[in-house]
Amino acid sequence: MRKFLKFLGLAAIGLVGLLAVVLGVVFYKSGLMLRRLHPVTVASPVLPTDPAAIARGQHLAATRGCLDCHGPDLGGAKVIDDPAMGRLYGPNLTLGKGGRGPEFTDADFVRAIRHGVAPDGRGLFLMPSADYSRFTESDMADLIAYVKSVPPVNRARVPVAVGPVARALMLAGKIRLAADEIDHANLRPDVVTPAVSVEYGRYVAASCTGCHGPNLSGGKIDIGPPDWPPAANLTPHASGRLAKWSESDFMQTLRTAKRPDGSELSPVMPRAFSGLSETEMKALWAYLQTLPPVPTGTR
Ligand code: HEC
Ligand code: HEC
Repeated sequence: MRKFLKFLGLAAIGLVGLLAVVLGVVFYKSGLMLRRLHPVTVASPVLPTDPAAIARGQHLAATRGCLDCHGPDLGGAKVIDDPAMGRLYGPNLTLGKGGRGPEFTDADFVRAIRHGVAPDGRGLFLMPSADYSRFTESDMADLIAYVKSVPPVNRARVPVAVGPVARALMLAGKIRLAADEIDHANLRPDVVTPAVSVEYGRYVAASCTGCHGPNLSGGKIDIGPPDWPPAANLTPHASGRLAKWSESDFMQTLRTAKRPDGSELSPVMPRAFSGLSETEMKALWAYLQTLPPVPTGTR
């Protein structure tokens, strides 16, 4: 019996030791990825000052998720706080205490939003810059002008701490830093004007691919905690709902977060998209109609 207990004790110590080693390797290797530097040179944008441009910037910030993650006042907000995925807060983007600081330049904004790279050169975690990397020059300028126009908010910065499961998913290639995905050297901003066109719909849909997948077929969202539902299939395939929807069903669902059958969308589907303009929604619908139908979750 004593021998057996001793064996159990040794086995437990061995298991804890092994776990510590595995965790150590995961933290070390993911740490290298998180600290890797991405040297990108960006030109300083010419920022507009007219109210119409600032209003366009505000519309973009509200409908492309910036306010969801950085707070309605852009003073920073909790996105995910979960022992597995980490403590992930969108930083304070204002000039208040805990904010971006006066040394943060317009070029630093472009580097962060278009390239997913922090001023010190490391890749930003969670910040979905791959969705924003092809913003037109004028949308980028309007957005930055708006962010710079908001009043300072004093709110302490909660440094991003990436959790063990998120790190393991990084090593497995399931979670990728936007900075690693974006082809920095060949990045060309889109050239497109707002209109009910397939082309403009494709442009707006860049904000949907982060969750609905590059081909918009939906499925598991890798960055999400386990309780997140899969994203819906937005292609006109029979395994999704949109094949049976009309344009107005689609627009009504975006506006109200309720499907035509009355069921409510999970809060994981950002309510911010309810603020998309009629032109943006119609362009999105026109674009979705052109997608090859693919079964749900076949990214
Ligand atoms: C899904 C959440 C999310 C969305 C949406 C998002 N961000 Fe971020 N953003 C973050 C996080 C988290 C960081 C910090 C990452 C880090 O430090 O590794 C960040 C960092 C930044 C930074 C760098 C700030 C600094 O102090 O280094 C800027 C600028 C920024 N975001 C602007 C924007 C703008 C503008 C938008 C909308 C177009 C936006 N973000 C949308 C989560 C988000
Ligand atoms: C942060 C992740 C996320 C982003 C970004 C996102 N979605 Fe979703 N979306 C979801 C999830 C998750 C669901 C499934 C909700 C449910 O099952 O209740 C969903 C559901 C939907 C639905 C309902 C379809 C159905 O079959 O029920 C539509 C329509 C939709 N999204 C459109 C869009 C569009 C258009 C965009 C971009 C402008 C977008 N989504 C961006 C996560 C996201």
